[in-house]
Amino acid sequence: MTSKDNLQALYTQSLTCQNCELGATRKNLVFGEGKADAGIFLLGEAPGAKEDETGRPFVGRAGELLTEMLTQAGLDRQDVYITGSCKCRPPKNRNPYKRELAACRPILQQQLEIIKPQVVVCMGLVAIHNLLDKKARLADIHGQWFEGPGYKIYPTYHPAAVLRGTVKAEVMIEDFRRVAEAMKSL
Ligand code: URA
Repeated sequence: MTSKDNLQALYTQSLTCQNCELGATRKNLVFGEGKADAGIFLLGEAPGAKEDETGRPFVGRAGELLTEMLTQAGLDRQDVYITGSCKCRPPKNRNPYKRELAACRPILQQQLEIIKPQVVVCMGLVAIHNLLDKKARLADIHGQWFEGPGYKIYPTYHPAAVLRGTVKAEVMIEDFRRVAEAMKSL
């Protein structure tokens, strides 16, 4: 079986997930999308309204901005894999609870095992705490490299922070540029 087949099988199996209460309120499970053997794995937080409607990650305003920032950094959205720490939308877009992240972790873990990325870019504190368990401030650790189990972990901001105006797009684009640069020698 290719990694594409394995990912498809995991997707099919995940569609009926009821391992946490978000299973009862979601319209669609947002599994993730992209290349099954991507070197770069982008990890976000949890789906919003548009993602829940469509079943696709990062298709709302933050997603459009993400695609644009990747392009500006010389990366193509088609060449990476994109998913969230939580695959189902938390009501009213609240942050996912710890127990929901924990319930979702086996899917994420299997995605990482199948795709085997070189770099996992954690966008925002939810993703960072999910994989890195760092209590540091994002402003202090974004753009730095951390060693993960079989891949490097690279924290950056969530594109929603740029939409809110708390971070400049240039800062995130520069973070992505460094990822693009590092991929040449990884
Ligand atoms: N995580 C996010 O932060 N946004 C999405 O659209 C999907 C996952």
